[in-house]
Amino acid sequence: MKIDYKTTTSLALENSDCLILPVFSNYVLQKMGQTLDKNSQGQIARLIQGDLELKLGSTLMIHDPRGVNVQRILCIYYGAQENIDTVHFQKIITTAAKATNKPGILTVSICLGDFPLIQHSIVDTIPQVISAFEGGFYVFEDFKTAALNTCALQSVELLFNTQIDKNQLDVAINTGKALAEGIHLTKQLSNLPANHGTPSHIAKIAQSLEKTYPTLSVEVLDMDDAVVQNMGGLLAVAQGSAQAAKFVIIRYRASKTKPDQSPVVLIGKGVTFDSGGISIKPAFRMEEMKFDMAGAASVLGVIKTAAQLELSVPLVGILPLTENLLGSKAMKPGDVIYTLSGKTVEIIDTDAEGRLILADALTYSQRFNPAVVIDIGTLTGAIGIALGSAASGLMTTDADLCRALEAAGKFSGDRVWSFPLWEDYYEMIQSNVADVANVGEGGAGSITAAAFLSRFVDTTKWAHLDIGETAYVTGKNKTATGRPVALLVQYLLHYCQSLN
Ligand code: BES
Ligand code: ZN
Ligand code: ZN
Repeated sequence: MKIDYKTTTSLALENSDCLILPVFSNYVLQKMGQTLDKNSQGQIARLIQGDLELKLGSTLMIHDPRGVNVQRILCIYYGAQENIDTVHFQKIITTAAKATNKPGILTVSICLGDFPLIQHSIVDTIPQVISAFEGGFYVFEDFKTAALNTCALQSVELLFNTQIDKNQLDVAINTGKALAEGIHLTKQLSNLPANHGTPSHIAKIAQSLEKTYPTLSVEVLDMDDAVVQNMGGLLAVAQGSAQAAKFVIIRYRASKTKPDQSPVVLIGKGVTFDSGGISIKPAFRMEEMKFDMAGAASVLGVIKTAAQLELSVPLVGILPLTENLLGSKAMKPGDVIYTLSGKTVEIIDTDAEGRLILADALTYSQRFNPAVVIDIGTLTGAIGIALGSAASGLMTTDADLCRALEAAGKFSGDRVWSFPLWEDYYEMIQSNVADVANVGEGGAGSITAAAFLSRFVDTTKWAHLDIGETAYVTGKNKTATGRPVALLVQYLLHYCQSLN
């Protein structure tokens, strides 16, 4: 799907098949809405007051409105103006996008001035509109052999009732398109069934990015390399599966970055299928464990966006990729493994595998003298009990990094919520046999997972993002969300601004 985004200050609608019009509580319309309503001699107001349900996101399509030069107006109920944050805004745009997915609608118009957003300038909302719009149109149908969902939409026209600098608009549109592309890649990879999205396949996709972007270089380590390096965490998980594990390092450096600038390292959990291993999971919804590589997929999405935007910060992506199965060589509860760091781990539960492969990746990351390390993974089911899908779990010991990620989450609508990492949690993962146990006793499952990871981080600024509940929608309509690509891209955009 290739949608063309155009901007205009003319507010002319003759080339548009559908205008999206927000309706606020008490049927209040904003500036453009009021003008159109006047031209229609009050027809729009009468229709919405009669037919528009006062439920967030409910829609009413008005065909051939009187006195207005547009075929359709899609009215969408937006609620009270003072409640509008980015999350709310994006939900409304996504719903509106879905409602305009009709064979007869080739061009859609939105007047951004009619969508006031707290703390955002109109220009700042453009990337949000683009990513939310494309999100509304996304379907995963790579494995459907018939009846493909074809999208008729060719262009979205963003109308402005104030004069805005053309250069700023171009930058905002490019940012939005690059973000949407990164999110799309992440969704496509995360949605892959595990028999297709194998570690080798994901590694090949990473390598293919190198061909599109000369600023990227990709290195793929195989099992033999992992043995030479002593990556005991990755090998312990991989030994139960016939699929060969891979360890991918993807580097991004724009020509304008200083050669001695330290990179931001992003590490993504890449378990292409998590059966739980010998500590096997229940069968109910086990198919969703194909999403257990969403962390790795999000790192590739962020790096693609960064390369597209030529961001001025050097990046390193590290993707430990493996299945967690229960072949005859599989690790067992009670086993003790030697990780890349040299530290030993007692395996209490083979289903706590993500932290084992991330431990090796965290140790490996120290080679790059990183400025910041962020690891991302579907680490625990417990994070969904605490937060639902409203936010990803954030655990960090660095107050500045915590604030920066929270701010990026608020700005992008891809939120995080921070948890403590007190000494108590480290006591819970002590082992009487090895240096550390892979599971803690006494609750706080998401925090003890982070406490485990922090044992493999040295002095660097480090944060852990648990996306166990945010990376995909569960159930019959299961699908990847592309989170937390928007969060991380926003974090990097702010980071680059702070370098200047
Ligand atoms: N991949 C799972 C976490 C998960 C479960 C994410 C369900 C999304 C939905 C992870 O490897 C895991 O199994 N974690 C265990 C940890 C436990 C053994 C301490 C969990 O959450 O139950
Ligand atoms: Zn697991
Ligand atoms: Zn897992």
